[in-house]
Amino acid sequence: MSDPISTHCFKEETNALREAWMRHDAQFLDGYLVSGVEDPRIHFPSLLTRGLMVESLFPGQHRAKIWQEYRFGICMSYLQRVLVQRPGLQTAAHLLRALERGQSQFKAIEIPSYFIATWEDLQRESVPENYLLKALNVLREDPWKSQAMQEVLETFARQWHRELPTEPPYAFSVMEPACGSANDYRALVSSGLARLVQYQGFDLCPKNIDNAIAMFPEASFSIGNVFDVDAADKSVDFLYLHDLFEHLSPEGMEQGICEVARITRGMACLGFFNTAMAQEHQIQKRDGYHWNRLSLSRLQERLEPLCQELQMIPVASFLRHGLDCADYHNPGSAILVMQF
Ligand SMILES: C[S@@+](CC[C@H](N)C(=O)[O-])C[C@H]1O[C@@H](n2cnc3c(N)ncnc32)[C@H](O)[C@@H]1O
Repeated sequence: MSDPISTHCFKEETNALREAWMRHDAQFLDGYLVSGVEDPRIHFPSLLTRGLMVESLFPGQHRAKIWQEYRFGICMSYLQRVLVQRPGLQTAAHLLRALERGQSQFKAIEIPSYFIATWEDLQRESVPENYLLKALNVLREDPWKSQAMQEVLETFARQWHRELPTEPPYAFSVMEPACGSANDYRALVSSGLARLVQYQGFDLCPKNIDNAIAMFPEASFSIGNVFDVDAADKSVDFLYLHDLFEHLSPEGMEQGICEVARITRGMACLGFFNTAMAQEHQIQKRDGYHWNRLSLSRLQERLEPLCQELQMIPVASFLRHGLDCADYHNPGSAILVMQF
């Protein structure tokens, strides 16, 4: 690999981006994107990415479970938000009592229809694990971060780990630029997906890569730069990249997009945290790098000619239509899926 810093055109931007993440301590980097509603076990962009990976590996075989896991994600996110809004062990007890009585509110907090519908579905005998009942019983006694709650958050990882084959069906390469401290990779391991793919993750920030290697010494993590990816043309079956493009200059984003299109031969799943249905990108410099709001139509215009098919998934409206969930926490979240 060429030294990321030597990528001549983007030397200054590379330095600024590296500095922006290196200023944090390693422990912060290890945890800041894997907690609360951004926990990859419940965060919708992470769930969708893994769902698309499963679908690419085993077309049509696991769709029902993929959707069940989406529903798990939105229900757990609701619970998490409610507990932030009303901390205290009483909250879970009040919510549980309201559900048992068939009420749609508790302590003046609305219980969303998808949560009630999930509660009702999980009462049925055919459902193997009533994760809502378990979660509420745990949260009556222990906080979100407790070991018992971590086990509830692992519900689907456990099920996937049991149900997915132990051997890869065929060679399938996965690449993750800007992998952070193995933020999403953790869930690939716990759900049994990591054993089915040849994964390579890279990130510009050495502290992130040190964290990732310390956690998963057997996996392939390296320092790398999305401006100059160390991979041959059309060598990657499935690429995913979350929450990076907003932080790049327009020229840097263009370079990153060209690199994604150059190396991916199958599918690229690009997650964005700050998009809008606007005419133009809103370019905003902050702390020496960028924090842009990206126009979905501009992204569509740029990505469509590079692939065979582009699917745009504005997360809030996708969940509203698909799962009757009208309270997704980030209206700017979008996922663009490129099929090459
Ligand atoms: C907002 S974080 C997202 C991390 C991870 N993708 C996630 O969603 O949890 C952005 C990440 O991009 C990395 N990064 C910044 N510029 C980069 C570049 N030019 N090439 C590769 N990674 C970069 C940072 O070090 C940081 O880990």
